[in-house]
Amino acid sequence: MTPDGDGGGVDAVDPGRFPLRGAWVVLGVGGGIAAYKAVELCRLLVDAGAHVTPVLTAAASRFVGPTTFSALASEPAETELFGGAHPIPHTRLGQRADLVVVAPATATVLGEYAHGIARDLLGAVLLATRAPVVVAPAMHTEMWQHPAVADNMTLLRRRGVVVVGPEAGRLAGGDLGEGRLSDPAVIAAAAAAVLARRQLDGGPPGDLSGTRVLVTAGGTREPIDAVRVVANRSSGRQGHALAAVAAARGASVCLVTAAELDPPDGLDEVVRVETAAELAAAVLARAAEADVVVMAAAVADFRPAHPFPGKLSKRVGTPEVVLEPTEDVLAALGRRRRPGQLLVGFAAEAGPSAVDRGRAKLEEKGADLFVVNDVSRPGVGFVHETNAVTILDRSGRAVEVPLAPKAVVAGAVLDAVVALRSELAAVAGERPSGQVVTCRDPAEGRQQA
Ligand code: CTP
Repeated sequence: MTPDGDGGGVDAVDPGRFPLRGAWVVLGVGGGIAAYKAVELCRLLVDAGAHVTPVLTAAASRFVGPTTFSALASEPAETELFGGAHPIPHTRLGQRADLVVVAPATATVLGEYAHGIARDLLGAVLLATRAPVVVAPAMHTEMWQHPAVADNMTLLRRRGVVVVGPEAGRLAGGDLGEGRLSDPAVIAAAAAAVLARRQLDGGPPGDLSGTRVLVTAGGTREPIDAVRVVANRSSGRQGHALAAVAAARGASVCLVTAAELDPPDGLDEVVRVETAAELAAAVLARAAEADVVVMAAAVADFRPAHPFPGKLSKRVGTPEVVLEPTEDVLAALGRRRRPGQLLVGFAAEAGPSAVDRGRAKLEEKGADLFVVNDVSRPGVGFVHETNAVTILDRSGRAVEVPLAPKAVVAGAVLDAVVALRSELAAVAGERPSGQVVTCRDPAEGRQQA
C-alpha cells in the first residue's frame, strides 16, 4: 500500500478491521414483503467482499425469486432441503458459514428457530451452524408485539442471537407502526460489527455499550438574508450512518445534525441545527458528557458578518457579502477535553496530499483520530451512498478503508475508536468505561443453536 502521507505508513484494512471481506455469509430470507430489501442487503454484503449464499424459504420465493438473488450473490441461491445437488446442504452451509444473517426474519422463521424446528433449509441451517446469527425481524406491529413473538425474541437474545430492529415506519398495506425491516446498510454494518468482534477476540457484540457518543452531521447553512444561505455539499449521510451504527453497537448516541435527513432510530437525543453557531452551542453544551465526539459535520468556516433581516432585492444592486470566521468547534473541544475523552475529526479533501492535509489537521486541532476522504474520487463523500477513507491516528498509523457503503465505513471508524479506547485504557490500567467484557475463548461467545 502506498503511503500517501508522511506518517507511519498506510495499512490496508485487514480482515479483522474490515470483517466482511472473505467471510462466508448465509443470507436467510423469510417470506415477507420486506424480502425485496434483502436483495439490497445481498448486494451490500457482496460489495463488502463477503461470499454470500442466499437461502430462501418457500414463502420468500413468492415475493422475490431465487434467480434475482443468484444473479447478485457470489453463490447460487438455495431453497431446498432435499433434491438439490448436495445431499445434505444444511450442514455444508451451516458448517462453512462465518455468519448467518436472516432478513427479513418473519414470525414463523423466528418461532421455529427459537424452538429448534428445522422444517426447511433455512431452519436446518440455523440449527446446523455454530456461527453467530444476526436476525432482522419484519412483520406487522400486532405480530411483533404478540407475547408469543416477544417470548421467542427473549429466548433468542438469551442465546446470543443479535437482533437488529425492527424500526417504526410504513408497513405492508399502508399501515404505520413498529415492525419495519431496518435499513439494509444498518443490517450490513451490524453483520460487519459481529464479525469484527468475533475475529478480534471472539467476544460478544455491543462493544460500545455504555459509551456516550456525540456525533455531528451535515453541512451548516449560514444566512445571507431571510431566504439565501451560504451552504456546502455535505449530505449528512456519513454522520447519520455513524450515529446509527454506534447505537446498533450499544452506544448512547446524541446526534447534532444540520442534515435534511430523517435521523436513524435508536438514538438517545437528536438536536437539529442550521448554522455553525447553533452547532457549536449544541456540541459545546453536551461535549463534557461524551466519551467520544465524532465531528463528521461540514461546519462552515465563514459566515456572512451582517445577515440582512429581510430579503435582499436585486433592484437595490449587487450586495457585497462580508464574511467573518466561525468558531472551530473541534479545535475548541481539543483545548477543553477531559482525560479519556476521544475526539474524531473528518477532513473532506480533494486531490493528492489529502492524507498529509488530514494529518496536519489532526495535530492542529488536537484530535485523536482523523478520517480523511478524497472527495475528487468517484463514489467518495458528500452526496454518495458510499465512501472511501483513510483513518489516521496520533501514532502515525493510517488505515485505508476501500469504497464501501457509508454504514460499513462507519463501522470501520468505530472499530478504530474501540481499538484506541482499549489501548488508552490498557495504558491507564483499566477497562474503558462502558466496554463489554469480552470472552477470551472464541467458542464461549457463540450462541447455542
Ligand atoms: N470543524 C469544526 N468547526 C469548524 C470547521 C471545522 O469543528 N468551524 C471540524 C469539522 O467538523 C471536521 C474538522 O474540523 O471534523 C475538519 O474540518 P475541515 O473543514 O476539513 O478543516 P478546516 O480546519 O476548516 O480546514 P480547511 O481550511 O481545509 O477548511
